[in-house]
Amino acid sequence: MYIYDEIDQRIIDERVTQFRDQTRRFLAGELSEDDFRPLRLQNGLYVQRHAPMLRVAIPYGHLRSQQLRKLADIARRYDRGYAHFSTRQNIQFNWPELAKVPDILAELATVQMHAIQTSGNCVRNFTSDHFAGVAQDEVIDPRPYAEIMRQWFTFHPEFAYLPRKFKMALNGATHDRAAVFVHDIGINLIHNEQGEIGAQVIVGGGLGRTPIIGSIIKPFLPWQHLLSYCDAILRVYNRYGRRDNKYKARIKILVKALGPEVFAQMVEDEWQYTKDGPSTLTQAEFDRVAAHFQPPAYQAFASDDADYQQHLQSDPAFARWASRNVHGHKQAGYAAVTLSLKRLGTAPGDVTDAQMEAAADLADDYSFGELRVSHEQNLILADVPQHALYALWQRARALNLATPNIGMLTNMIACPGGDFCALANAKSIPIAEAIAERFEDLDYLFDVGELDLNISGCMNSCGHHHVGHIGILGVDKNGSEWYQISLGGHQGYDKHGTPAAIGKVIGPSFAQDEVAGVIEKIVGVYLDQRQDEERFIDTVKRVGIDPFKERVYAKAH
Ligand code: HEM
Ligand code: SF4
Repeated sequence: MYIYDEIDQRIIDERVTQFRDQTRRFLAGELSEDDFRPLRLQNGLYVQRHAPMLRVAIPYGHLRSQQLRKLADIARRYDRGYAHFSTRQNIQFNWPELAKVPDILAELATVQMHAIQTSGNCVRNFTSDHFAGVAQDEVIDPRPYAEIMRQWFTFHPEFAYLPRKFKMALNGATHDRAAVFVHDIGINLIHNEQGEIGAQVIVGGGLGRTPIIGSIIKPFLPWQHLLSYCDAILRVYNRYGRRDNKYKARIKILVKALGPEVFAQMVEDEWQYTKDGPSTLTQAEFDRVAAHFQPPAYQAFASDDADYQQHLQSDPAFARWASRNVHGHKQAGYAAVTLSLKRLGTAPGDVTDAQMEAAADLADDYSFGELRVSHEQNLILADVPQHALYALWQRARALNLATPNIGMLTNMIACPGGDFCALANAKSIPIAEAIAERFEDLDYLFDVGELDLNISGCMNSCGHHHVGHIGILGVDKNGSEWYQISLGGHQGYDKHGTPAAIGKVIGPSFAQDEVAGVIEKIVGVYLDQRQDEERFIDTVKRVGIDPFKERVYAKAH
């Protein structure tokens, strides 16, 4: 895990001091709303429905237990005892008091965390695979590259005032857990035929009101050129991206308007000015950063622990959890574990201070004191010995962190929606709760199998509804809250080779109290139509959306 050096620490400490003074001047009436806005946005502070919202970055999702304890402490002392994990490996506090935010930032700085560039029109937090470094399908560990890029693009003066926000994600596995095709820049780390490492560079993906799957503009970029080439992309965007209309300002609109080939050529032309210049990465620089991501002190274990196997045989509830929440690992005798933050009665991604502290204890006891945050809004213990899984499960279950639902319908992604967000058309949380209740029966849930259901409270799409196998979008109809449903979206290449796709809207929207019933009907059509082991997404792809429409909109007799 990356540990700050003196320079990193000084930068964030100074930033806290500056923001303390900016906040003081704003509260004293010396700075206007307009003057303060860019200053607060650069420090992750939104003005929301009830209170400011503070978004704290968790670069590529890595957390030490000590950092999670600090987040718990902040939730308890400065907020209402809970926080919300977002879909981009950030954590959000919904109720801080503006005057106290500099204190929160100072507390965060003591554990090497900050809220810099988590909002505003700049390069945002870098995200990656939550199983980076341990996944069995990993080809190249993306973390050193993600950290190198994070260091380069944070505070990059040229890119502090882009036409619009800019999000990058890196993936180094065959299964795309970082959603690289729906980012402004997505990077797949790959080998070429000679076995050299490079990046497949994808540009212009995004969700929001114009959802677009990104285009590959560079099939193989030698890794040494990652910074100069991405600089060139940002320069072209900074120069030609639209600034007259914020709904058309994202890079995806520019790439679409020009066509990916023309855009790629413009990047190529721009790149010639900096290619092979001082930003070219050296092996020494790579090694410096990569030294932070060495594997922990694994012990030599057999690959199939006998105790673990025995518990799988003797305890069906444990076996059920293991089948969904325990994931294969590169290292023999170890596993990665997802602590589910999706359980009945709680908004997806919400976590209490006590749960954060307990999860930090679990990390210390079972996983080398480290955790990851997934873009599906869960926590991961990445390095758990197999022999410890049974004990871990018992503790996680007592903490309500062991719902066995990863990859299934109740592992929903949802944004905060109308309960917190000022931009919302409709609430997301009650919808998520109604669906969770409807699908509480685990036998039924397991029978339905793999299914991604994503909910956004408005077309900004923070809840990734476009790429959910089932997507739910809050819409406004004459001042009341309605929900539009789409089918067939997909976040990115999975183990079956299914590529990223945007879902299709099935028809007119539904009232809040109808939604859970509609989802049940949709699942019913799947259960009737599926062949053999076919997953929901494969059935939708095979039969199209018409059979679902027919059932959902059938007139009651
Ligand atoms: C509550 C305060 C929030 C506000 C005001 C807000 C605002 C926005 C806006 C305006 C957009 C659309 C940007 C565009 O298309 O140009 C957007 C997109 C997005 N936001 Fe949020 N958001 C909030 C919370 C969240 C949360 C909680 C998450 C994660 C659960 C999140 C993750 C995202 C993602 C993934 C996108 C779409 C991807 C893209 O950028 O194309 N946001 N947000
Ligand atoms: S999708 Fe809309 S309602 Fe949900 S958090 Fe984003 S801006 Fe708010």
